[in-house]
Amino acid sequence: MAKRKKRKFAELNTFTNVLQIPYTELWNKDYKLKGKWCEEVFGNNNPLVVELGCGKAEYTLGLARMFPQKNFMGVDIKGERIWKGAKTALEEGLNNVYFVRAKIDFVDRLFGENEVSEIWLTFPDPQPTKRRAKKRLTSPNFLNMYKKILVSDNTVHLKTDNDLLYEYTLEVLQDAGYPVLISTDDVYRDFLDDKIFGIKTFYEQMFLSEGKKIKYIRFSIPKE
Ligand SMILES: C[S@@+](CC[C@H](N)C(=O)[O-])C[C@H]1O[C@@H](n2cnc3c(N)ncnc32)[C@H](O)[C@@H]1O
Repeated sequence: MAKRKKRKFAELNTFTNVLQIPYTELWNKDYKLKGKWCEEVFGNNNPLVVELGCGKAEYTLGLARMFPQKNFMGVDIKGERIWKGAKTALEEGLNNVYFVRAKIDFVDRLFGENEVSEIWLTFPDPQPTKRRAKKRLTSPNFLNMYKKILVSDNTVHLKTDNDLLYEYTLEVLQDAGYPVLISTDDVYRDFLDDKIFGIKTFYEQMFLSEGKKIKYIRFSIPKE
């Protein structure tokens, strides 16, 4: 491992706003803080917003600055990326931000029923092959897990550069009968003035520099 990476990993262990959960703690059991994140980590009952596959966490940080009355958690498997977001949060004293280094494949073992009010999916891997379609973060398998952990008045956001993932998600939502609140194949043409789109992630900036259009879907998952 490169020296710089090693140093970041060592530092990550000392961060008070990061929890690293080994795979073995999740794959066949619920995590001990499931259902208790706000109470145990933030010491309040504010709404919990979660960014899955947060990378360097531009959305987690940007939204946390805009909405100090909400709690924000970024989840990603890559320690080096989480390091960046967590370091910034510590430097800025953002106490409504927390990071979990874990796999999101069992997100319903991490969060409890009705624990999460909003989910952000920011430039998730499109998993273009048919064989890996179930790994897409908007596949029915993931939507079913989100349904469990979300409160009834919930919102899910997807931002992507990828046409296939955009079209696929709209189809999955239509098949499931879930209400699409907003969908656009060019968010900066349609919602230029909305301050939440002033936030641009690391991957997004790369895609924009390649001239790609950024797609966005906002939807809700009815709890029945
Ligand atoms: C394409 S990157 C996007 C990162 C960031 N949201 C952005 O827009 O810059 C996808 C992220 O998802 C994370 N990821 C992919 N599969 C994951 C999994 N199964 N569990 C946790 N994180 C995962 C990767 O580590 C990576 O940081």
